[in-house]
Amino acid sequence: MPTAEFLERIVSRLDRIDRKNIERYVTELVDEKQLLSKLLDQVPYGIMVLTNTYEILYLNRKMAHLFNIPDTIRPRAVLSGVIPDVPLVKWIEQQVDVQEEKFHEEIEVLLPRPMVLQATLQFEKVDDTTMAFLFVANLTERDLNARERFQLQNWESMISLAAGIAHEIGNPLNSLTIHLGLLTKALEKVSFGEKKKIDRSVRAMQDELTRLDTIVRNFLRATRRKPMRFEATRVNELIGKTATLLKPELKARRISLREILDKNIPPFLLDAERMQQVFLNLIKNSIHAMPHKGTLCIRTELKDKLCLIHFQDTGVGIPEEKLPRIFDAYYTTKEEGTGLGLVIVYQIVREHGGRIEVSSKPNVGTTFTLILPLRKEKLGLPGPKRRARDER
Ligand SMILES: Nc1ncnc2c1ncn2[C@@H]1O[C@H](COP(=O)(O)OP(=O)(O)OP(=O)(O)O)[C@@H](O)[C@H]1O
Ligand SMILES: [Mg+2]
Repeated sequence: MPTAEFLERIVSRLDRIDRKNIERYVTELVDEKQLLSKLLDQVPYGIMVLTNTYEILYLNRKMAHLFNIPDTIRPRAVLSGVIPDVPLVKWIEQQVDVQEEKFHEEIEVLLPRPMVLQATLQFEKVDDTTMAFLFVANLTERDLNARERFQLQNWESMISLAAGIAHEIGNPLNSLTIHLGLLTKALEKVSFGEKKKIDRSVRAMQDELTRLDTIVRNFLRATRRKPMRFEATRVNELIGKTATLLKPELKARRISLREILDKNIPPFLLDAERMQQVFLNLIKNSIHAMPHKGTLCIRTELKDKLCLIHFQDTGVGIPEEKLPRIFDAYYTTKEEGTGLGLVIVYQIVREHGGRIEVSSKPNVGTTFTLILPLRKEKLGLPGPKRRARDER
């Protein structure tokens, strides 16, 4: 292969080399370029070379596959017109601006499909201009294996969850037994005056039973997994339907509801029943966070081929140090809570290939944002592999 030095020597003597030799060198160069190109296409990483104004000078086949880039892109196309995932483009642009090298950075993208990528960025000065070399490995497969491992751990945590459930059920059951004993005794010599006492016991029993019922129902929801049913769904309509269900509760708590729904969101693939569960859990949490009055704003937004759904409340908020715990099973700050609501939410959003973000300020309010890819075709949705128990 001709070295740069060798080529420089040729260029400097161009006037002294005859046409035939020049032709030979050029043919050799073209052959070399093709060989190099073929070689780079075999590399299992995506490779891209960029200028400092984000123009693409080169990309190999793997990179084109990763981002569904057609062969027909024009020379020196701009990065943002080629890579569909906007957060990734922004990340690359930022690093190129400051020329900061990055090594094995893990990045999650949602477009053109949900993937976990590992990116390395290096800079090299070529003829006074600095070029960025981007290497991208697709870790999604590795992540799937990790997910399987996670499922196994999940199974174990389900068992400890069951133990927790048994414990939780124990207390109300105890209380029920005591109250039943009292009730039986009171019934022996029932008189009008005693009636009040019996009523109180009965009410206590009912409350405990309701609690028991909630725990069991939520537990079943977290563990029982029907197969997913994706159907083209109008998300705004689903939000409207869900909010209607909770309107009496919102009214009773003097919570005003604002729905700002982006009409441009096309129908996309959702498991409507599961997604409704997500909306219900988030709205209920907001209701609980605003015991006296407040505002709940549900806003949908079409952004970079993603559907964003914001649930913003003016509730008590979550202290910063508690934020990392809210998605943990059994984490609850409510007397009546089971701490499974957000576990279910997280699981369902992941099954849709989406993400959930939360920001909160104590005494100001909390915003949960769902970020869902606008899936149209029934292919490639990530998610835990179905097991026998999923079919129940
Ligand atoms: N909108 C919100 N505002 C303030 N705190 C919140 C909000 N959403 C969740 N939290 C906090 O996160 C905790 C966990 O929420 P999660 O929905 O998982 O359980 P829960 O609401 O306590 O019980 P349940 O299982 O009945 O939903 C809540 O107890 C609360 O402290
Ligand atoms: Mg909840």
